[in-house]
Amino acid sequence: MTTLAPEALRFCVAPMMDWTDRHCRAFHRILSRRARLYTEMVTTAAVLHGDRERLLGHDACEHPLAVQLGGSVPADLARVACICADRGYAEINLNVGCPSDRVQNGSFGACLMREPKLVGDCVAAMVAATPVPVTVKCRLGVDEQGLEALDALADAAVAGGTSRFENRDVPPLDYPAVHALKRRLPAVPIVLNGGLGSWPAVDEALCHLDGVMLGRAAYGEPALLLDVDARLFGEAGTPATRAEAVTAYLPYGEGRLAAGVPLHAMTRHMLGLFNGLPGARGWRRHLATEGVKRGAGVAVIEQALRFPLDGERLAA
Ligand SMILES: Cc1cc2nc3c(=O)[nH]c(=O)nc-3n(C[C@H](O)[C@H](O)[C@H](O)COP(=O)(O)O)c2cc1C
Repeated sequence: MTTLAPEALRFCVAPMMDWTDRHCRAFHRILSRRARLYTEMVTTAAVLHGDRERLLGHDACEHPLAVQLGGSVPADLARVACICADRGYAEINLNVGCPSDRVQNGSFGACLMREPKLVGDCVAAMVAATPVPVTVKCRLGVDEQGLEALDALADAAVAGGTSRFENRDVPPLDYPAVHALKRRLPAVPIVLNGGLGSWPAVDEALCHLDGVMLGRAAYGEPALLLDVDARLFGEAGTPATRAEAVTAYLPYGEGRLAAGVPLHAMTRHMLGLFNGLPGARGWRRHLATEGVKRGAGVAVIEQALRFPLDGERLAA
């Protein structure tokens, strides 16, 4: 079993279907070199029978990158874990938390909360099949389940050899329950997810736990990621301003346009970048109206940059 260095998980951007696609991740990677990024969930059936390049393809710039898998058949998960390891993923994460109907019908995701033994078997099968660290993302429980469900699941995942446990803490938010889990299993890296959206909340969580995972806040207000490397890793090197980050994304954008990706597939992830600053609305509107036009190129992004005033220009 390979373990993850605790540093690897201090700050994670949550897996989010339809949101954290490869273009989103390439953008987030410019904002933070150190944040751990996750794919959208991909099911084992899709990987085994579908278009692997579409499902698992990514750009080298996105690393360190984790793939999130949905599935509940240990042998299938083991095969898919190998496929993902060959494609260079740094971590394989099992989804034991997603409550969507789409997922529950497939008898995985949140309903695995009811089957800790099966989760342990799934983890063990993946750990045996690949040297890449295997982690689990779960919830506090489903429906009427009490917190014992979390304990049982964590124990089974650890027995299976998981390298890390991410707890999706909604609903309801019960951070102390996650702190208690950490006290009970001090050697297991535990990451808190759910409802985190500000630096004070992140700092507080990091007093108790190994890492934080932000979903909606990181996506909706991506400028938050610009502070991650300096605040949590003591590292410089991320763009000084939001506009600089956008400019750094342009070569990636040009490359993908040349490969036939429409501009909008990339710019849709950048709409919230200037939220809270003067001109944010102009930025959003320009991208939303011009970025969707046939043949739109990166010039649209450069033009949209005329609207917002970011920190440096405000100070000038
Ligand atoms: C649009 C959307 C898609 C999501 N897709 C997934 C997914 O594929 N896998 C998963 O484990 N969780 C998924 N989630 C849940 C998030 O990963 C996260 O656990 C949840 O949003 C709570 O964190 P937050 O309060 O920081 O947003 C999704 C959430 C959203 C909003």
